[in-house]
Amino acid sequence: MIFTVAIDGPAAAGKGTIARDIARRFGLAHLDSGLLYRAVARRALSGEAAEAAAKGLDPSDLSEAGLRTAAVSAEASRVAAIPAVREALIDFQRGFARRDGGAVIDGRDIGTVICPEAEVKLFVTASAEVRAERRWRELGGDGAGQSLADVLDDVHARDRRDMERATSPLVAAPDALELDTSLMSIAEAVEAAAAHVAARLPG
Ligand code: DC
Repeated sequence: MIFTVAIDGPAAAGKGTIARDIARRFGLAHLDSGLLYRAVARRALSGEAAEAAAKGLDPSDLSEAGLRTAAVSAEASRVAAIPAVREALIDFQRGFARRDGGAVIDGRDIGTVICPEAEVKLFVTASAEVRAERRWRELGGDGAGQSLADVLDDVHARDRRDMERATSPLVAAPDALELDTSLMSIAEAVEAAAAHVAARLPG
C-alpha cells in the first residue's frame, strides 16, 4: 500500500504530536522532516559546509542528541533557506513518503513540494501567542530562563524565516485540511486528523 499523510505547519502548532499519533494508530512509518534540517544545522555548526552536510547526511545523524537546542533551531532555519540544501534532501523524503506500507511526514513543504500527490494533507496552525505559550511550558514551565515575551519573539522570527524564504516557503496546500489548534486541544486536533485519515485509507 502506498499512502502518504503530509502534515505541514509552523513551529509548535502540534503537528509532531499529531503525526506521531496518526502513525501509531494506523501503523504507518513516521518521519519528522525537521530533523533532517536540524542534523544539517548541527554539522554546519561544527564547521562543515551546509550543502556538503545535506549531501552526506546519514540516518545515524537523526538520532543524535542535541538536535533541539536553541542554537541548532536557529541554524536549522538558516540552512533550510539554502536551495541546494533543500534539493539534497528531496529524494530521501520522497522515497520515505512513497515507501510501501504507508508513511506520515511532518514539516513545512511536504504537501506542496515533497509529496503533492499525498493522499491526505493536513495544515496544522495555531496563533503565535498560543504556540509561544506551549513552547514556554515545554521548556519546563519557566521557559528555561527565557521570558514568555522572548519565546514569542523567537516564534515570530522563525515564522518569518519559514514563510518568507524564496524556496519552498511554508504555505498550506490548496487541498489541505486546516486544523487551527488554538481553537481546540491537541487531543481534539488528533481526533479530527484521525477521522480525516480513516476516511481516506484504502480498504
Ligand atoms: O519542525 P522543526 O522546528 O524541527 O524544523 C526545523 C527547521 O527546519 C525550521 O526552521 C523549519 C525547517 N524545515 C523546513 O524548512 N522544511 C521542512 N520540511 C521541515 C523543517
